[in-house]
Amino acid sequence: MTPVGSMRVVVLLGAPGAGKGTQAPILAEHLGVPVLASGELLRRVAAGGSPLGAEVASYMQAGQLVPDGTMAEIFLQRLGEPDAARGAILDGFPRTGAQARALDDALATRGGSIEAALYIEVPEDELVGRFADRRICKAAGHVYNLNSNPPQAPGVCDIDGSELVRRPDDDEATVRARMREQLAPLAEVTAYYRDHDVLSIVDGTRPIEDVTAGLLDALGPASPGPAGA
Ligand code: AP5
Ligand code: MG
Repeated sequence: MTPVGSMRVVVLLGAPGAGKGTQAPILAEHLGVPVLASGELLRRVAAGGSPLGAEVASYMQAGQLVPDGTMAEIFLQRLGEPDAARGAILDGFPRTGAQARALDDALATRGGSIEAALYIEVPEDELVGRFADRRICKAAGHVYNLNSNPPQAPGVCDIDGSELVRRPDDDEATVRARMREQLAPLAEVTAYYRDHDVLSIVDGTRPIEDVTAGLLDALGPASPGPAGA
C-alpha cells in the first residue's frame, strides 16, 4: 500500500448506496487530494444538453452502466487535469474490469499506480432503504440522508448552501435496475484488485464516522492527517 512516486490514488468501491459519495470527501481531506466522482461527472455531462449528454442520461435513468469507451474517455480526461497530479480519491470508477485495466494503463504512463482499493460492504437489503431519503446538493453533489445524515437546515447544503434535491435515478424502478445491472461488473472489479493485492473490505453498515475510521485504518499508517495538519 505504499504510494508510488508522489501520487496517491485510492479507489472507493461499493454497490449503489454503499456510501462512496459520503466517504470520498472525508478521505480526500485526510489525503489532501481531490475527489473524482464518475456519477457527478456524468450528471454534469447529462445536464449540458449535448447529444452525448442525452445519451449518458438515458443510460443513467435506465440504471445501466455508460459504455466503457465513453466512460473511460470522460473519466481519464478528468484524471489528467492538474489538480489530480498528486493523486485522487476515485468514487465510482472503475466499475468494470475493462475500466480497471484502462485506469492502470493511464496511471502507468504517469509513473503511478493504485495505492488501495477500498470496498465498502453493505448487504443489498440494507442499501435499498437508503435511496428514498437520500438528497444531494445541486452545486456539488454533497450527500445527505433525511434519516441517517440530515442537513442542519432543511433543504440546504451545510457545505455550500445550495438547494438539496432527489437524484432522478433514485426512483424505485431505477434503483432495482441499478442493482440488477451493476453488481456483477462490480464483482469483476473487486476480483481484479484482489488479484493485484490492493483490495481491503470495510464494513459499511456502521455509522458514517465508524466507516471513515475503518477506511483510514485500511489505508494504514502511510496516510497523513488532515491536509495542512
Ligand atoms: P453514481 O452516482 O456513482 O451512483 P452509484 O454507484 O449507484 O452510487 P451512489 O451514488 O448511488 O451511492 P454511494 O455509494 O455514493 O452512496 P452515498 O454516499 O450517496 O453513478 C450513477 C450512474 O452513473 C450509474 O448508475 C451509471 O449509470 C453511471 N456511472 C457512474 N459511474 C460509471 C462508470 N464508471 N461506468 C459506467 N457508468 C457509470 O450514500 C447513499 C445514502 O446512504 C445517502 O443518503 C447517505 O447519506 C446514506 N449513508 C451513507 N453512509 C451511510 C451509513 N454508514 N449509514 C447509514 N446511511 C448512510
Ligand atoms: Mg455516489
